[in-house]
Amino acid sequence: MSLSHLLDAVTILKNGGLVGLPTETVYGLAADARNQNALHNIFLAKGRPNHHPLIVHLAHLTPLAEWARDIPTYAFTLAKRFWPGPMTLILPKQAWVLDSITGGQSTVGLRVPQHPIAQAVLAAFGSGLAAPSANLFGHISPTSAEHVKQSLGNRVDMILDGGPCKIGIESTIIDCTQAHPRILRPGMITANMIEETTGLTLEAANKNIPRVSGALISHYAPHTPTRLLTEQTLAQAQNTVVLSRHKPANNTIHWIRMPENATAYAHSLYQKLHEADELRCEQILIEAVPNGPEWQGIQDRLTKATAS
Ligand code: TXA
Ligand code: MG
Repeated sequence: MSLSHLLDAVTILKNGGLVGLPTETVYGLAADARNQNALHNIFLAKGRPNHHPLIVHLAHLTPLAEWARDIPTYAFTLAKRFWPGPMTLILPKQAWVLDSITGGQSTVGLRVPQHPIAQAVLAAFGSGLAAPSANLFGHISPTSAEHVKQSLGNRVDMILDGGPCKIGIESTIIDCTQAHPRILRPGMITANMIEETTGLTLEAANKNIPRVSGALISHYAPHTPTRLLTEQTLAQAQNTVVLSRHKPANNTIHWIRMPENATAYAHSLYQKLHEADELRCEQILIEAVPNGPEWQGIQDRLTKATAS
């Protein structure tokens, strides 16, 4: 990214516009988190229901207390260990934080992303940027600048191209409003990593779930009907794209090979879903993935991509 692109992006953001920008998880649709009008533009561009809260992105940990209050020690421990990185902390909000950010709730989601372009824009902008994933509501999240262009086109004022996203699925969201942390959206920062870092056991996942748009049953979904199946069932499909780790015993399908390892799988998942959708077959079938903590974020996204 050139300096003039950086300055253009900051000018657009200062004027209440929208910038598609890379983070290490997925591309975000960034807007000034203190500007009501700019936030309104995010909801319009995405076609997103306006009671869905947005994550505020910060350049570093220092301004955390400007946005959140009653921050538990374990939240600082997590922030110091995993920021900048693919983790969002849900904390009690400061009174001034806008309802469009919080969806009218008493909490705010905060994240310090790692991608150098996101870092540069945040540092030059000098305050918080709200940034949901840069896709139309309910569709596959973007992991390249091309995906953002396809999904949002001229609904966005500028797109910064930072190449493919390293992680590939959205940040782990951790509720830090109770005595123990609780995962609201699994991701590549796993339950084990959180328990090891904080020395605390996680709160069970589904008690009083606050609103998380990724928690809707059907989300991250391709246009093509998509189902999740075992390797055996995949063998009978036709006019079908199959995403699986091993080649199915079926020559009538279009096979997209998926990686064996969870990190590589997450990295390419949305890219492969976009590719599968573009083949315009009758259906997309996806082979179920293994259990285990490092697969939980992936399992969550696959379940949502295949819910109808
Ligand atoms: O990796 C990510 O988190 C990406 C990149 C761009 O940073 N962002 C992202 O944003 O996934 P979005 O808006 O697509 O998903 C944010 C999720 C939503 O499910 C939203 O409901 C939840 O975070 N969220 C935000 N604030 C919240 C709050 N106060 N309480 C509960 N959930 C919240
Ligand atoms: Mg999203």
